[in-house]
Amino acid sequence: MKVAIFGLGYVGAVSGACLAELGHEVVGVDVSGAKVDLINRGEAPIVEEMIAELTAQAVQLGKFRAITDAAAAVHASEISLVSVGTPTAPDGTPDLSYVDHVVAEIGAALKGRREPHIVVIRSTVPPGATEKRFAPVLEQAAGEKLGQRIHLAFNPEFLREGRSVRDFHQPPFTIIGAMSDAGFEGVKRLYDGVESETIRTDPATAESIKLLSNAWHGLKVAFANEAARILKTAGVDARKALEIFAKDTVLNISPAYLRPGFAFGGSCLPKDLRAMISIADKGQASAPIMKAAIASNEAHLDAALAAVRACGRRPVVLFGLAFKPGTDDLRESPYVALAERLIGKGYALQIVDPYVDASRLMGKNKEFIEREIPHFVELMARDAEDAVDAAEIIVYGHATGVDKGAIIERGIGKVLIDLSGDKELELCGADYRGVGW
Ligand SMILES: NC(=O)c1ccc[n+]([C@@H]2O[C@H](COP(=O)([O-])OP(=O)(O)OC[C@H]3O[C@@H](n4cnc5c(N)ncnc54)[C@H](O)[C@@H]3O)[C@@H](O)[C@H]2O)c1
Repeated sequence: MKVAIFGLGYVGAVSGACLAELGHEVVGVDVSGAKVDLINRGEAPIVEEMIAELTAQAVQLGKFRAITDAAAAVHASEISLVSVGTPTAPDGTPDLSYVDHVVAEIGAALKGRREPHIVVIRSTVPPGATEKRFAPVLEQAAGEKLGQRIHLAFNPEFLREGRSVRDFHQPPFTIIGAMSDAGFEGVKRLYDGVESETIRTDPATAESIKLLSNAWHGLKVAFANEAARILKTAGVDARKALEIFAKDTVLNISPAYLRPGFAFGGSCLPKDLRAMISIADKGQASAPIMKAAIASNEAHLDAALAAVRACGRRPVVLFGLAFKPGTDDLRESPYVALAERLIGKGYALQIVDPYVDASRLMGKNKEFIEREIPHFVELMARDAEDAVDAAEIIVYGHATGVDKGAIIERGIGKVLIDLSGDKELELCGADYRGVGW
């Protein structure tokens, strides 16, 4: 393909050389005449493993050149990749003005022409920016609606500086946030020869995956360092502990616990987070992440309560009381906490959880109920369907052993607040509201 790349920094310079290696004809554009001159001399404008050789080879073969003239680059290509910087503005938000400027330049260069063109945003931008901000800029500058001749997509870059050429060839996945089929197909063709799973999604989801990835990586580094500070006070070498910890790819380094739903609870997670915090406090090690995990969990409970209160209706039926499906364990259950808060706000409440059968509760569980919600016995509904019929708001946490079809059928005209993230519930006739989606 004939490719224009706007912005010859880390992303643009690596993409230019690697796409040329894949056989594309690449023209790079930068406002820096010095970077443009370097590339045209066959020299890379950045220092990275393998990039000097790749750039020299691509330029020598006539596959990669650079110019400062944006319009000429657009006219010489069928697809334009935008990889200019998005630095942090003084108020902490990303400064999108460089992307705005380039998108407007591309649009102006496309105005009045007939050739089809795909514009691809590769800079890291906040969710919604491609569709809500750059699409109108492009349409206005080009003087026509997108989706016919001109297509717009978002395609995040996952390279890591220091090993970016290898990362280009072995990305974790290729994500294409496309606004049209032609846009998707064009971006996909760009990566023919790169072995990775291609995932098509909407632009805002694609934009969010890039931000989520970097936030997650930052969180992982900070977690490991915080864990090391805490464990050091207990005389444990965290290098050894975390090496073994990371070998658990079932729960620790895996998709487990990475699905949005309701707050965590139970007899282990809150207790052991508190234990880590107490070790940190005792050893005077700072533990903001461990403390924030508890605060964030509380905030999720607040969000559920706020969602119920925002309905302006009552009474409520709550599906799920045990801390997770498939158990009768009520200790530190977030559903118990939610039930208490609802009662505290004066809501008439019925609870459906067939696993929590009052007559069979024993030991610690029985003690917990007697201490925390002694009146819960009267709140437990005998019949799930009758409870739904009597309620105006269905709060759905989990419902092991309940006929979900019956809830869905009976939900018409009611509000359903989903704490579980169960997609099937969206199909019920109720006014569906997710707690975090
Ligand atoms: N560096 C990385 O590892 C990495 C990885 C993935 C994504 N990203 C994202 O990609 C984007 C670019 O990052 P980078 O590190 O390559 O940035 P960079 O600052 O190294 O390069 C940006 C380039 O854009 C040029 N530029 C600015 N305005 C221009 C214009 N109007 N026309 C043409 N060129 C122009 C600059 O001169 C510069 O050469 C950012 O949004 C960044 O967050 C970076």
